[in-house]
Amino acid sequence: QNRQLTPADIRARKGGPPIVCLTAYTTPVAKLADPACDLVLVGDSVGMVLHGLPSTLGVTMEMMILHGQAVARGLRRALMVVDMPFGSYEESPEQALRNAARLMRETGAAAVKLEGGGAMAETIRFLTRRSIPVLAHVGLTPQAIHTLGGYKVQGRGADRARVLADARAVAEAGAFGAVLEKVPAALADEITGEIDIPTIGIGASAGCDGQILVVDDMLGLFAEFRPKFVKRYAHLAEDAERAIATYAAEVRARTFPAQEHIFADEAGV
Ligand code: KIV
Ligand code: NA
Repeated sequence: QNRQLTPADIRARKGGPPIVCLTAYTTPVAKLADPACDLVLVGDSVGMVLHGLPSTLGVTMEMMILHGQAVARGLRRALMVVDMPFGSYEESPEQALRNAARLMRETGAAAVKLEGGGAMAETIRFLTRRSIPVLAHVGLTPQAIHTLGGYKVQGRGADRARVLADARAVAEAGAFGAVLEKVPAALADEITGEIDIPTIGIGASAGCDGQILVVDDMLGLFAEFRPKFVKRYAHLAEDAERAIATYAAEVRARTFPAQEHIFADEAGV
């Protein structure tokens, strides 16, 4: 496939080969992810991952636009989706449309993602009927940290019906896919079997129609943060730590820069 994937392409992958998704926040990482991924999400996790915020609540439209523009420059094949930040869509369908349109206009993204199930169904319907493809996000929704009371598994026991109803509501409202975050595997499988749009799992199940991870987490660019659902495919923080320690030692020993890194008085030497 030579053209960039569309929300309709992703939607059509329901029940097909798993949809490969990662987050990205910068041009170079978007370039690395693009050949292997179907969908690249400019997640509001950028606030925690790159800006040191304690949660995603402090993320602004301006941050999403700046990072969205950077990611867009690195993508040729993967669909780009931009997260709607906390407070930019919950008030009304009209507010959501205004901000979603701004995200798409200023970044070139073909779709937005927003958090919430039944409570957001009317907004998802409003946007999708007005030319804005929406990726939904149910289960653990990090913008709701203060009402959920922590980053806990969602949909266990008596809570199962709520998460199932949320997934049904967003599918029914017209979302082209739904992220399922941190829900029991059996529930993720049940939802995947029941709704007619692709499910993208994170801390969910291999039976989902696709998977997503935060790229810095799976590359091990963090030392501290290790949720159970993140598999580390590399340990770049340790590599970087070693590299920086070696650089510091060489500067102190005056062995860097060496002959090959410096310039002679005459050109061409
Ligand atoms: O912000 C984010 O990175 C996300 C994914 C983890 C789904 O919403
Ligand atoms: Na997010």
